Amino acid sequence: MSMLILGIESSCDETGVAVYDTGKGLLSHTVHSQIALHDEYGGVVPELASRDHVRRILPIIRDTMQRAGVTLEELDAIAYTEGPGLAGALMVGASVAASLAMGLDIPAIGIHHLEGHLLSPLLSADAPDFPFVALLVSGGHTQLMHVSGVGAYEMLGETLDDAAGEAFDKTAKLLGLPYPGGPALASLAEQGVAGRLRFPRPMLSQLEKRGDLDFSFSGLKTAVALASAQRQRDGLLDEQARRDIAAEFQQAVVDVLLAKSRAALKRTGLKTLVVAGGVGANRALRSALDHAAQKEGFRVCFPEMGLCTDNGAMIAFAGALRLLQGNKMEQGPRRFSVRPRWDLSALEA
Ligand code: KG4
Ligand code: ZN
Repeated sequence: MSMLILGIESSCDETGVAVYDTGKGLLSHTVHSQIALHDEYGGVVPELASRDHVRRILPIIRDTMQRAGVTLEELDAIAYTEGPGLAGALMVGASVAASLAMGLDIPAIGIHHLEGHLLSPLLSADAPDFPFVALLVSGGHTQLMHVSGVGAYEMLGETLDDAAGEAFDKTAKLLGLPYPGGPALASLAEQGVAGRLRFPRPMLSQLEKRGDLDFSFSGLKTAVALASAQRQRDGLLDEQARRDIAAEFQQAVVDVLLAKSRAALKRTGLKTLVVAGGVGANRALRSALDHAAQKEGFRVCFPEMGLCTDNGAMIAFAGALRLLQGNKMEQGPRRFSVRPRWDLSALEA
């Protein structure tokens, strides 16, 4: 018998809602982005984010359910993002999920946001099987995980400072690009030439020396700041120079992510790499990984383009897998919590 799950994501600046049917797959999903709202502040303003979630969430739920052709009474469970994320923003999704679940007398399931990202490539038609290595590259996290099943996540390496997406965003700001910087920097990079100037590949020497799978991206951002200040002083910071800086920055990030992913596959002996999180939408990263996979005989899987960044589909899907697994995450309809800070490897199957 199939089950119907409503998924709610509100951890940051996107209100995401989806309906997932364990038999038929994803029935509908909606993402409302708050980019325009935060644009003038150059980054996410937490209080504005919470208020916008409050304003949008019920109409989006209504609309998404209507497009799925289902009613509230048909739902078997409601999955929501319990953390990590902005406390106030998380509270909106969590309280709506818990209230609806209470009214309908069905379970509310708190989902780890990164677990949602991590499992989202399994929503694709040609889904990979466990076990696999996951490269999680979002705005707040950069992690390599050994994934042997739902809830069985072993950390292989993580960032010691900035996450890859954060490095993209901060570097974009340095180059005067609008928020959110990642996609804008990636477009600028596509018009530039990498290698005209040279940035470091952080932590690659540690990989060679000690097999270290951790990342560090804050030095790269500093290298960009120094290079652009130098060119500015010399009167050489024209449009082409900005494009070349962006291209070399992107190439450095891609080189490091590729080298560490390859090393993680080698260490674990696994042949499948799953990429998830916002930076997974980066075209240069996708093509570098595709190319390496073909040449070196491993498989690389990405979420569909629209499911790389935050969305409700991944939360509904993770909720469905948790439910099928016996639902140990279920908190019952009368209680809910949010966890703004929450370590993914603390999860259990
Ligand atoms: O996973 P996500 O939507 O949110 C978090 O959970 O953090 O990731 C957002 C991050 C942002 O830092 C954004 O700049 C980055 O992903 N991003 C990109 C691209 N699209 C989104 N970074 C590089 N290239 C892109 N095309
Ligand atoms: Zn995310």
